[in-house]
Amino acid sequence: ASVSADGHEDFLECLSEEFHNYPSISNVTYTPINNSSSYSSILRFSIQNLRFTSESTPKPLVIITPEHESQIPPIIHCAKDSEVQIRTRSGGHDYEGLSYVSPVPFIILDLINFSEITVDAVNKTAWVESGSTIGSLYYRIAEKSPVLGFPAGVCPTVGVGGHFSGGGYGNLLRKYGLAADNVIDARLIDVNGRILDRQSMGEDLFWAIRGGGGASFGVILAWKVQLVDVPERVTVFTVQKTLEQNASRLIHRWQYVASKFDEDLFIRIIIARANSSSSQTGGNNVTLNASFNSIFLGGVDRLLPMMQESFPELGLVREDCTEMSWIESILYFDGFPIENREVLLNRTQRSVRYFKAKSDYVQTPIPEFALEGIWRLFFEPEADEAVVIFSPYGGRMDEVPESSIPFPHRAGNLYKIQHLVYWEKEEDQNSGRYLSWIRRLYGYVAPYVSRFPRAAYINYRDLDIGMNRNEGRTSYAEANVWGMKYFKGNFERLVRVKTMVDPRNFFRNEQSIPSLREEI
Ligand code: FDA
Repeated sequence: ASVSADGHEDFLECLSEEFHNYPSISNVTYTPINNSSSYSSILRFSIQNLRFTSESTPKPLVIITPEHESQIPPIIHCAKDSEVQIRTRSGGHDYEGLSYVSPVPFIILDLINFSEITVDAVNKTAWVESGSTIGSLYYRIAEKSPVLGFPAGVCPTVGVGGHFSGGGYGNLLRKYGLAADNVIDARLIDVNGRILDRQSMGEDLFWAIRGGGGASFGVILAWKVQLVDVPERVTVFTVQKTLEQNASRLIHRWQYVASKFDEDLFIRIIIARANSSSSQTGGNNVTLNASFNSIFLGGVDRLLPMMQESFPELGLVREDCTEMSWIESILYFDGFPIENREVLLNRTQRSVRYFKAKSDYVQTPIPEFALEGIWRLFFEPEADEAVVIFSPYGGRMDEVPESSIPFPHRAGNLYKIQHLVYWEKEEDQNSGRYLSWIRRLYGYVAPYVSRFPRAAYINYRDLDIGMNRNEGRTSYAEANVWGMKYFKGNFERLVRVKTMVDPRNFFRNEQSIPSLREEI
C-alpha cells in the first residue's frame, strides 16, 4: 500500500502537540508501524466487502478510534494542516468502501466507541450515537417498550452514522418512511471543529445531513430520532415460488399491487437462483426462486382478507403466517432464531463476501417478457450467488414531498430494485467477470426503469454512475452526473449548503458534494 511518510509524520506530530495534555489519544491511535497487528484488525473489523481488503487497496496512515467528542476537533485541525483526508467510519457498510479507502493520503476516524443509545419511551424519542448499529438501536427500544419501533434497515450490523445520513429504509418504510424522515435533532462537528446541534447548525445543514450523505458535511456524532408505534403483534410470512410455480406471473402482478396495499403491509420480493430436484429428469435443475417476504403491522385475522382482496394470486393461507412481536420480526427478517435477541448486539456480520451492487427505481411495471429476460441472465455462471430485491414503495413514501430531505425518490415510484452479485474468490475479483455481469444486468433493465435521471439510492453506493476526481478541484459538472441520480432537484441545495459550511471542500470523497468556492 502506498502511504506518504511525510503526511503521516506531520499528522502525528501535530496530534502530539495538540494532545500534550491528553495522553489518552495515543491509546486509540493505530499506525501500521507502531502497532501493526491492532492496526490491521481494527481496519478489517467492520469491512463488509472483501473487494477492499486486498494488498493493493490503499491503507490509512493512521486509524483513530476517539473515546470522547473533544478529541475530534484537534484531529480535524491536524488533518487539514497536514493535508491528509479524513474518512469517517461508523458501521463500515459502505458498498464502495468510501469510509475506509482513499486513493490519496488519509486517516480513518472510526466512531466505534460512540455507541451509546438513550431511549425515552415516554416521549417516544432516542439519542443514538453514530457508531451504534441499527440492531443495537432496535434492541434498546424493545428493552424499553414492546410497542415502539424505528423504521430503519434490515441488517442489524449497519451503522447509524452512514445509514441515517443516506436515508435508511427497511420494512416499516411504507408506514413510516425512512430513518432520515424520523430524525429530529443531531450533533455534528464541522470543518472548523465546532460542535453543533440542530439549532446551532441551522435548518439548511440539518436538512443536508438527513439523506445527503454525512461525509460531505462534517462528523456526525449522534442522532435524535422519533420512535414510531408498532402493534404488540405483527404477522410475518415468506412464500416461495419457483419459475415452474408461476413466479414470473406473480412478480408481474405484484408490481401493480404492492405499492397500493394498505400501508401496514410490506411485501418485498427476493429473487435468486435455486436448485430444484426434478422428478422427470431425476437430477438437479437450476431454477429461480422468488421469496415473497412480508411483514404486516397487525394480526393474521386482518391480514388474510386483505390479501384475499388485493393479491389473491399469491394464495396466502393462515399456515404461511406467524404472529410475533416487532423485535422478533427483526430477527426473522435477518434469518436468526427469534428467541435469540442478543444477536442484535453483535457487530460482526455472519458472512462477508466480495460483492457489487446497483440500484434502480421502477415507475411503470416491467412487462413479463422483460422479467424473463432478467431471469435468463440469472442462468449465466456468474449469477450463481446473484440476487435482486424488489422493495415496494407507496404509503408514507408517496406523502413526503421530494424536497423534504435530500432523498428524493417519493411519489411515482412503484418499487426499488437492488441488484447484487457476490463471489467468493480473489481471482474472480481480478478477472472482473462478476462486475461485468452486473453491469450487463444493469444495461438490460435500462429501458424499464426510471430515466432522466436514472435514479439511484446513495446508501447503495455505486461509483459506476459517476465520481469526482479525488485530486484537485471537484468539478460541479462531474458531480452533477451522479448527484442528479441520487438527489434529483435536491442536488442544487446540497451544493449550496456544502459551499456554505465547507467552502474549501475539506470533507471529500469520490461522491461528496462539491463546493462552488473550492479554489478560494
Ligand atoms: P460506513 O461507516 O461505511 O459509512 C458510509 C458513508 O457514510 C461513508 O461515506 C462514511 O464516510 C459516511 N459516514 C459514516 N459515519 C459518518 C459520520 N458519523 N459522520 C459523517 N459521515 C459518516 N441500507 C438500507 O437503507 N437498508 C438496508 O436494509 C440495508 N442493509 C444493508 C445490509 C448490508 C449487509 C450492507 C453492507 C449495507 C446495507 N445497507 C442498507 C446500506 C447501508 O445503509 C449503507 O451502506 C450505509 O451508508 C452504511 O452506514 P455505515 O455507518 O455502516 O457505513
